[in-house]
Amino acid sequence: MTHEQLRQVEASRAFEATRRFEELALYHVPFDQLNGDDRTESTLARLVGAGGRVAIIGPSGSGKSSIIASVFGPFSEDLPVDIVPLRIPVAATQDTTVTEPGELARHIVRYVTRWASRERFSTTEQEGFERGLAESTRRSAGGRSRVFQIGLPLWLVSAEFSRQVQSTGEEYEFHGSSTDAIEHLKRLVELFAAHSLRPALAFDDSDTWLRIPGLDRTEVANSFFTRGLGMLSREVDVSVVVAVHEEYLTLPGYVRGSQLLSGEVRVPRLIDAVDGIGTILRDRLVISELSFALDEILEQDAILALAKHYESGRSMRDVLRVAQRALQHGVSDGVDRIAVPIVDQASTELSS
Ligand SMILES: Nc1ncnc2c1ncn2[C@@H]1O[C@H](COP(=O)(O)OP(=O)(O)O)[C@@H](O)[C@H]1O
Ligand SMILES: [Mg+2]
Repeated sequence: MTHEQLRQVEASRAFEATRRFEELALYHVPFDQLNGDDRTESTLARLVGAGGRVAIIGPSGSGKSSIIASVFGPFSEDLPVDIVPLRIPVAATQDTTVTEPGELARHIVRYVTRWASRERFSTTEQEGFERGLAESTRRSAGGRSRVFQIGLPLWLVSAEFSRQVQSTGEEYEFHGSSTDAIEHLKRLVELFAAHSLRPALAFDDSDTWLRIPGLDRTEVANSFFTRGLGMLSREVDVSVVVAVHEEYLTLPGYVRGSQLLSGEVRVPRLIDAVDGIGTILRDRLVISELSFALDEILEQDAILALAKHYESGRSMRDVLRVAQRALQHGVSDGVDRIAVPIVDQASTELSS
């Protein structure tokens, strides 16, 4: 390939790791496919389908959000059709929103209500959703995709159901205290049941309450897994998926809260890193509509170097960042294919 084509690959950001949650599903290659087993996505889908509460466990950048986006996304085949996945972001809210059960219920009611209310989205957002829906239909095999997908507002799927969800939620927003919030959450879940639907709440950013130098956020995690998860399991009949950082496994709150879980799914490591990373990168080229072969872009040894980086204990996100950084260097250096030294340079830079 030519230098100009390499520049094109770099500019497309096909290998770039940072993707909005809504985009993760498109780029996700199931670990079950990569590793040839059914321990990850299939297991998560089965546990959620059975109405369970499931933790998805892994370090930062390993693929927790990506797995959740995929299992709850437009292309998911294993998830029963009556499951309505709802993503509830919790990382950027006030601590009490996740540590106080009433506040958490209120947060969920608000979120679901917003998701049911067309007028709460700007015209640009609305167009974005509609484009996304058209795109996922186009990309799915046979032009079919799930009706209820994570990230797709309820109003886009069912006007009448949406209207009911909205009015149940709004009635509360104007009059409710936080003790009422749990009652409202129950009513909301009953409304889903009345339509033969089952909500599944996805907390994909519940893995950020860590202990870092100068700041210990683990008390938030402890409370979320005891009080928050406790409320959800006692009060409402919903499936729950929570992202769990590895470091939570020794927290007393998580240890206690994990008794409320019906299953834990570990983000696996790739059994064959060269093959797995190769598959993920090739897939990204296809999605970006770039018709180059991977080994035209990266020398075989350079792919091996990426795999080595992964095998040294790095995450999937780290590997993608190195791949994208290597492309940037390749472009600056005027080469027409990425060789080992450029990958090594990128990984040294990003590791320091
Ligand atoms: N199985 C996979 N297939 C394709 N890309 C993946 C896969 N797993 C992880 N990634 C990518 O790796 C990056 C990190 O994944 P993410 O789900 O955000 O990690 P986490 O939520 O565990 O911090 C994302 O850019 C995601 O697209
Ligand atoms: Mg995540």
